[in-house]
Amino acid sequence: MEKLIIKGGKKLEGEVNISAAKNSVLPILAATILNGNNCTIENMPMLEDVFVICEVLKSLKANVIIDKLNNRVKINTANLFDNESNDELVRKMRASFLIMGPMLGRFGNFKISLPGGCNIGTRPIDLHLKGLSALGAEITVGHGYVEANAKKLIGSNIYLDYPSVGATENIMMAAALAEGETVIGNAAEEPEIVDLAMFLKAMGAQISGEGTDTIRILGVKDFKEVVHKPIYDRIEAGTFMITAAITKSLFKINGVNEVHLKPIIAKLTEMGVAVEINKNSIIVDGRKKLNPIDIKTMPYPGFPTDMQAQMMSLLCTVKGTSIITETVFENRFMQAVELKRMGANIKIDGRSAVIEGIDTFTGSEVKATDLRAGAALILAGLTAEGTTVIEDIYHIDRGYVSIEEKLKRLGADIERVSYCK
Ligand code: EPZ
Repeated sequence: MEKLIIKGGKKLEGEVNISAAKNSVLPILAATILNGNNCTIENMPMLEDVFVICEVLKSLKANVIIDKLNNRVKINTANLFDNESNDELVRKMRASFLIMGPMLGRFGNFKISLPGGCNIGTRPIDLHLKGLSALGAEITVGHGYVEANAKKLIGSNIYLDYPSVGATENIMMAAALAEGETVIGNAAEEPEIVDLAMFLKAMGAQISGEGTDTIRILGVKDFKEVVHKPIYDRIEAGTFMITAAITKSLFKINGVNEVHLKPIIAKLTEMGVAVEINKNSIIVDGRKKLNPIDIKTMPYPGFPTDMQAQMMSLLCTVKGTSIITETVFENRFMQAVELKRMGANIKIDGRSAVIEGIDTFTGSEVKATDLRAGAALILAGLTAEGTTVIEDIYHIDRGYVSIEEKLKRLGADIERVSYCK
């Protein structure tokens, strides 16, 4: 087991480089299933979740080369078996369910273990299945599995009840090899959807409207070799922006896309954080006194739910009353319990959290309950009086590449230590 030990109160300075987006590379790795030729993904973040989905692909007999030295992954799925996936691996990471659409698109049938829920919510897949059945798949769910069969996938008009990121991705990938045109209405508009579409189009897919609420996919017969460089991780960049604000520091963040960061820049600016954009970099100055604000998480381009926990930590240190409303997931305030161990004043009422600013967090022993809750605890530890020890940091490693190394380079007093439980 490993834990992080943070001595709070340090001012940070210098520069940090953002990695490529976890929520881009996971669907892109799944999409290689569609393509029997070589797929090369550059600037691959070496994250736990990336290794899991690569293991899932290997379990399906894909040829996967992970080049950690050059941050590159090369995949060839020419010899893919359309057998069932490895249950244990699929259950380990629910994003593995993103192989359903491409496997169905390529082989016309696939059986996979139902993805579990997780700490932040039940994470249903009804919209994924509704979309795949609209393409002509016969879906059966039972004994903890979901199976999809289709002699041929036929393009169709699908209107999503909710702009689900995963459902949009699964349908897009299945439709890429379907006969005719598929139109996805009320589609997710996240930058990661656009990045997946760019990857698919680079392979030869016919897609338009990505990034809007209506995406059109015209099925093709086959694909060609592709090399792709994913977009930067807007959530990692946002996490470091909040790092500057909560430690009252000024530093530079390299590897950002201003458009993708708009909702985060808007809310931090409203609080009094000064930001200066220079092409793919942003200088964040959190040294001024900040004001309390209200936050409501929404699908993109609204304020991202993946930034909610980190924002909660920041708002706990701002005098006055702030309210966070979490509209995307039903149980995404787990970090509040741990933040209260550090002295936070937070009242949870259903989907709302009322936060009264405190003078400072006090260092404590806390546990990461999920990926972004873990990031929120690091932020609190960086500004806390005394020492904070964070356990179960495997959650954090799923979405942040060597976060303690990046923070150390900025001047934080943070160490990763191994221990036996
Ligand atoms: C993706 O999850 C991200 N994960 C999540 O990031 C992110 O929080 C989420 O999108 C929202 O932006 C990856 O991309 C790997 P959804 P996903 O389907 O696709 C409901 C992180 O921290 N829903 O848009 O699972 C669902 O219950 C992770 O990096 C249905 O009801 O999100 C939720 O309330 C956490 N039926 C809402 O939609 C469905 O069939 C949003 O889910 C699917 C979803």
